[in-house]
Amino acid sequence: MGYVNLPEPSVTTAAGGGDKGNHPAPGTKLLRLVGVSFGLLCILQVAVNVCLRLTLYYQNAVSDMEVFYYYQIVCLSEICRKRPQGWRIFGGSAYYISSTEKTWQESRTYCQSVGADLMIINSKEEQDFANSFQTYMWIGLTDSETEGRWKWVDGSPLTTSYWRDGEPNGKTVENCGDIKTFTAEKSWNDENCSHSHKWICE
Ligand SMILES: *[C@@H]1O[C@H](CO)[C@@H](O)[C@H](O)[C@H]1NC(C)=O
Repeated sequence: MGYVNLPEPSVTTAAGGGDKGNHPAPGTKLLRLVGVSFGLLCILQVAVNVCLRLTLYYQNAVSDMEVFYYYQIVCLSEICRKRPQGWRIFGGSAYYISSTEKTWQESRTYCQSVGADLMIINSKEEQDFANSFQTYMWIGLTDSETEGRWKWVDGSPLTTSYWRDGEPNGKTVENCGDIKTFTAEKSWNDENCSHSHKWICE
Protein backbone atom coordinates (compact mmCIF):
# COMPACT_ATOMS: atom_id res chain seq x y z
CA MET A 1 0.00 0.00 0.00
CA GLY A 2 1.49 3.34 -0.99
CA TYR A 3 1.25 6.65 0.81
CA VAL A 4 0.68 9.10 -1.98
CA ASN A 5 -3.08 8.77 -2.00
CA LEU A 6 -3.73 9.72 1.59
CA PRO A 7 -6.28 12.54 1.61
CA GLU A 8 -5.20 15.86 3.05
CA PRO A 9 -6.18 16.67 6.62
CA SER A 10 -9.60 18.18 6.88
CA VAL A 11 -9.44 21.85 7.76
CA THR A 12 -12.80 21.82 9.47
CA THR A 13 -11.38 20.00 12.49
CA ALA A 14 -9.33 23.08 13.41
CA ALA A 15 -12.42 25.21 13.91
CA GLY A 16 -14.13 22.62 16.12
CA GLY A 17 -14.69 22.99 19.83
CA GLY A 18 -17.39 24.09 22.19
CA ASP A 19 -19.41 27.06 20.97
CA LYS A 20 -21.91 27.41 23.76
CA GLY A 21 -22.03 31.19 24.26
CA ASN A 22 -24.22 32.92 21.72
CA HIS A 23 -22.64 36.34 22.17
CA PRO A 24 -18.93 36.07 22.86
CA ALA A 25 -17.11 39.20 24.04
CA PRO A 26 -15.16 41.02 21.27
CA GLY A 27 -11.86 39.92 22.78
CA THR A 28 -12.93 36.26 22.70
CA LYS A 29 -13.83 36.62 19.05
CA LEU A 30 -10.41 37.98 18.16
CA LEU A 31 -8.69 35.27 20.17
CA ARG A 32 -10.74 32.63 18.41
CA LEU A 33 -9.86 34.12 15.01
CA VAL A 34 -6.16 34.05 15.87
CA GLY A 35 -6.51 30.50 17.17
CA VAL A 36 -8.29 29.25 14.09
CA SER A 37 -5.79 30.97 11.78
CA PHE A 38 -2.92 29.42 13.67
CA GLY A 39 -4.58 26.00 13.51
CA LEU A 40 -5.11 26.30 9.77
CA LEU A 41 -1.48 27.33 9.29
CA CYS A 42 -0.32 24.30 11.26
CA ILE A 43 -2.44 21.94 9.22
CA LEU A 44 -1.22 23.51 5.99
CA GLN A 45 2.36 23.16 7.22
CA VAL A 46 1.88 19.49 8.02
CA ALA A 47 0.25 18.85 4.63
CA VAL A 48 3.08 20.59 2.78
CA ASN A 49 5.70 18.73 4.82
CA VAL A 50 4.09 15.36 4.19
CA CYS A 51 3.81 15.99 0.46
CA LEU A 52 7.39 17.23 0.28
CA ARG A 53 8.71 14.31 2.27
CA LEU A 54 6.81 11.76 0.20
CA THR A 55 8.14 13.32 -2.98
CA LEU A 56 11.66 13.15 -1.57
CA TYR A 57 11.06 9.60 -0.43
CA TYR A 58 10.28 8.40 -3.89
CA GLN A 59 13.57 9.94 -4.95
CA ASN A 60 15.16 7.84 -2.17
CA ALA A 61 16.25 10.99 -0.34
CA VAL A 62 14.72 10.12 3.03
CA SER A 63 14.77 7.01 5.18
CA ASP A 64 11.99 4.61 6.12
CA MET A 65 12.11 6.08 9.62
CA GLU A 66 11.25 9.51 8.32
CA VAL A 67 8.35 8.16 6.29
CA PHE A 68 7.15 6.37 9.40
CA TYR A 69 7.42 9.64 11.38
CA TYR A 70 5.37 11.57 8.84
CA TYR A 71 2.90 8.72 8.53
CA GLN A 72 2.26 9.11 12.25
CA ILE A 73 1.57 12.84 11.80
CA VAL A 74 -0.96 12.07 9.07
CA CYS A 75 -2.55 9.58 11.43
CA LEU A 76 -2.87 12.29 14.08
CA SER A 77 -5.15 14.16 11.75
CA GLU A 78 -7.61 11.29 12.25
CA ILE A 79 -7.58 10.01 8.69
CA CYS A 80 -5.97 6.76 9.66
CA ARG A 81 -8.29 6.01 12.55
CA LYS A 82 -10.61 4.22 10.16
CA ARG A 83 -7.77 1.95 9.02
CA PRO A 84 -7.06 -1.33 10.79
CA GLN A 85 -4.36 -1.17 13.44
CA GLY A 86 -1.09 -2.98 13.11
CA TRP A 87 0.36 -1.97 9.75
CA ARG A 88 4.14 -2.30 9.65
CA ILE A 89 6.32 -0.05 7.51
CA PHE A 90 9.17 -1.62 5.52
CA GLY A 91 11.00 -0.51 2.39
CA GLY A 92 8.44 2.13 1.48
CA SER A 93 5.39 -0.16 1.81
CA ALA A 94 2.98 -0.90 4.63
CA TYR A 95 2.20 -4.50 5.59
CA TYR A 96 -0.58 -6.03 7.63
CA ILE A 97 -0.73 -9.56 9.07
CA SER A 98 -4.18 -10.88 9.85
CA SER A 99 -5.11 -12.37 13.19
CA THR A 100 -7.85 -14.55 11.72
CA GLU A 101 -7.75 -17.21 8.97
CA LYS A 102 -9.43 -17.14 5.58
CA THR A 103 -9.19 -18.84 2.17
CA TRP A 104 -6.71 -17.32 -0.30
CA GLN A 105 -9.47 -15.52 -2.22
CA GLU A 106 -11.20 -14.23 0.92
CA SER A 107 -7.82 -13.01 2.20
CA ARG A 108 -7.21 -11.19 -1.06
CA THR A 109 -10.69 -9.61 -0.91
CA TYR A 110 -9.92 -8.35 2.59
CA CYS A 111 -6.65 -6.73 1.48
CA GLN A 112 -8.38 -5.09 -1.48
CA SER A 113 -11.11 -3.75 0.80
CA VAL A 114 -8.45 -1.72 2.67
CA GLY A 115 -6.77 -0.43 -0.49
CA ALA A 116 -4.01 -3.05 -0.56
CA ASP A 117 -3.50 -6.56 -1.97
CA LEU A 118 -1.81 -9.76 -0.85
CA MET A 119 1.96 -9.33 -0.45
CA ILE A 120 4.23 -9.46 -3.49
CA ILE A 121 7.80 -10.49 -2.70
CA ASN A 122 10.39 -9.15 -5.09
CA SER A 123 13.61 -8.98 -3.14
CA LYS A 124 15.59 -11.06 -0.66
CA GLU A 125 15.03 -8.28 1.90
CA GLU A 126 11.26 -8.55 1.48
CA GLN A 127 11.45 -12.35 1.72
CA ASP A 128 13.43 -12.13 4.97
CA PHE A 129 10.97 -9.53 6.28
CA ALA A 130 8.03 -11.82 5.48
CA ASN A 131 9.70 -14.80 7.18
CA SER A 132 10.45 -12.69 10.25
CA PHE A 133 6.76 -12.77 11.23
CA GLN A 134 7.11 -16.54 11.74
CA THR A 135 3.57 -17.01 10.50
CA TYR A 136 2.06 -19.61 8.20
CA MET A 137 0.26 -17.22 5.84
CA TRP A 138 -1.00 -16.60 2.32
CA ILE A 139 0.99 -14.36 -0.02
CA GLY A 140 -0.10 -12.92 -3.37
CA LEU A 141 0.99 -15.89 -5.47
CA THR A 142 -1.19 -18.17 -7.64
CA ASP A 143 -1.13 -20.43 -10.71
CA SER A 144 -4.92 -20.78 -10.91
CA GLU A 145 -5.03 -19.39 -14.46
CA THR A 146 -2.47 -21.69 -16.08
CA GLU A 147 -1.15 -24.69 -14.17
CA GLY A 148 2.55 -24.24 -13.44
CA ARG A 149 2.69 -20.59 -14.47
CA TRP A 150 2.94 -18.80 -11.12
CA LYS A 151 1.98 -15.13 -11.08
CA TRP A 152 1.78 -12.35 -8.51
CA VAL A 153 -1.55 -10.66 -7.82
CA ASP A 154 -0.49 -7.64 -9.90
CA GLY A 155 -0.21 -9.94 -12.93
CA SER A 156 3.59 -9.99 -13.02
CA PRO A 157 5.26 -13.38 -13.61
CA LEU A 158 7.29 -15.01 -10.84
CA THR A 159 11.00 -14.51 -11.51
CA THR A 160 12.99 -14.86 -8.27
CA SER A 161 11.31 -17.50 -6.11
CA TYR A 162 11.77 -18.89 -2.61
CA TRP A 163 10.00 -22.26 -2.86
CA ARG A 164 10.92 -24.80 -0.26
CA ASP A 165 12.88 -27.69 -1.83
CA GLY A 166 10.38 -29.97 -3.55
CA GLU A 167 7.73 -27.25 -3.88
CA PRO A 168 5.54 -26.46 -5.70
CA ASN A 169 4.24 -30.02 -5.84
CA GLY A 170 0.46 -29.78 -5.72
CA LYS A 171 -0.21 -29.60 -9.48
CA THR A 172 -3.85 -28.61 -10.14
CA VAL A 173 -4.91 -29.33 -6.54
CA GLU A 174 -2.72 -26.60 -4.98
CA ASN A 175 -2.88 -23.32 -6.86
CA CYS A 176 -2.12 -20.73 -4.19
CA GLY A 177 1.16 -19.79 -2.52
CA ASP A 178 1.89 -19.33 1.16
CA ILE A 179 4.78 -18.95 3.56
CA LYS A 180 5.04 -22.12 5.60
CA THR A 181 8.58 -23.13 6.56
CA PHE A 182 9.48 -19.64 7.72
CA THR A 183 12.56 -20.70 9.67
CA ALA A 184 14.34 -21.31 6.34
CA GLU A 185 14.90 -18.69 3.68
CA LYS A 186 13.15 -20.90 1.10
CA SER A 187 9.79 -20.91 2.83
CA TRP A 188 7.11 -21.03 0.14
CA ASN A 189 4.58 -23.81 -0.26
CA ASP A 190 1.77 -24.34 -2.77
CA GLU A 191 -1.56 -25.25 -1.26
CA ASN A 192 -5.28 -25.82 -1.87
CA CYS A 193 -6.67 -22.26 -2.17
CA SER A 194 -9.75 -23.26 -0.16
CA HIS A 195 -7.75 -23.94 2.98
CA SER A 196 -7.87 -21.24 5.65
CA HIS A 197 -4.73 -19.46 6.81
CA LYS A 198 -3.61 -16.10 8.07
CA TRP A 199 -2.50 -13.72 5.36
CA ILE A 200 -0.27 -10.70 4.75
CA CYS A 201 -1.45 -7.58 2.90
CA GLU A 202 0.89 -5.06 1.30
C1 LIG B 1 -9.52 -28.21 -1.13
O1 LIG B 1 -9.91 -28.06 0.22
C2 LIG B 1 -11.31 -28.05 0.40
C3 LIG B 1 -11.58 -27.65 1.84
O2 LIG B 1 -10.78 -28.40 2.73
C4 LIG B 1 -11.87 -29.39 0.01
O3 LIG B 1 -13.26 -29.41 0.18
C5 LIG B 1 -11.54 -29.63 -1.45
O4 LIG B 1 -11.94 -30.94 -1.84
C6 LIG B 1 -10.04 -29.48 -1.70
N1 LIG B 1 -9.82 -29.51 -3.13
C7 LIG B 1 -9.07 -30.41 -3.71
C8 LIG B 1 -8.99 -30.29 -5.19
O5 LIG B 1 -8.50 -31.27 -3.10
